[in-house]
Amino acid sequence: MGDDPAETLRPATPAEAGDVRAMHAATRAAWDEAAERYEGWLAGAIELIRSGGTNLFGVEVELIGDLHGRCRRAIHLQCAGGRDTLSLWNLGAEEVVGVDFSPRMLELAARLTAATGAPARWVLSDVLDTPHELDGTADLVYTGRGSLMWLQDLDAWAAGIARLLSPTGRFVLFEGHPIEWLFDANEDGHWVATDYDYFAGPEASKGWAPEYIDRLSIPEAEQSWKFARAWTLGEVITALLGASLRLERVTEHPIDWWGGHSDVRPEERGRVPLSFSVVGRRQE
Ligand SMILES: C[S@@+](CC[C@H](N)C(=O)[O-])C[C@H]1O[C@@H](n2cnc3c(N)ncnc32)[C@H](O)[C@@H]1O
Repeated sequence: MGDDPAETLRPATPAEAGDVRAMHAATRAAWDEAAERYEGWLAGAIELIRSGGTNLFGVEVELIGDLHGRCRRAIHLQCAGGRDTLSLWNLGAEEVVGVDFSPRMLELAARLTAATGAPARWVLSDVLDTPHELDGTADLVYTGRGSLMWLQDLDAWAAGIARLLSPTGRFVLFEGHPIEWLFDANEDGHWVATDYDYFAGPEASKGWAPEYIDRLSIPEAEQSWKFARAWTLGEVITALLGASLRLERVTEHPIDWWGGHSDVRPEERGRVPLSFSVVGRRQE
């Protein structure tokens, strides 16, 4: 972040917060800039996928299960550079479809496909507008790991998931826990409360966490604003129920899914939920 946090982090104005599409357009530009970091991870991703490996956490593999013979098509929403998408292929999906709105991310995904020969299709789209030709075709819709925070209309997101699922399809979400935004480590590695307002709605920011994207070749002040929010657990579950998904399992996990809390003492980890998962199906 810059020297003056107010210049790089602020609440969205009421006008901004009222315009979902404009917030998504800004976030899309910011993610296209951030794809630069994923370019550096491409060689490792090629090696991982070629070796038959998976980038998914053990808990995700457990929730998704063995896809061999059970999954003609898996659709990964907010697929970024495709590493997690092709992990689903290595888990046994016959075909994978990755959806993301960043052209630069999907260029990387296409390079990953070319290098691995994976049966993958990349769809450039906002997840709120996935093409109707995909409707009813997903035996698995998978998403998460830093996805929901960028979305500004969860009801439309959930309706899109219900639309993509085949009649027997499953939905698996593994995502950062919203409560994660309320906790940080002090200099001794103990948990302390942040100033984040759990119920505040979208905030606009420039710059990226050093543990994740870090500095880009574009100076922070010149980067696009991006809009993010911690959707509460209640908002996520209510949106999925509103789309008539039948939820089978909602679980909270202490897993630090992006390494953002690695400066917390080991003995203090494990008592704060840092991620959660949801498994659901289409309601017939
Ligand atoms: C943190 S990444 C997703 C995590 C992914 N598993 C990975 O490999 O890192 C977030 C992705 O969501 C995409 N994204 C954000 N908002 C989106 C939207 N409304 N529609 C489609 N893609 C979106 C971004 O372009 C970015 O590639």
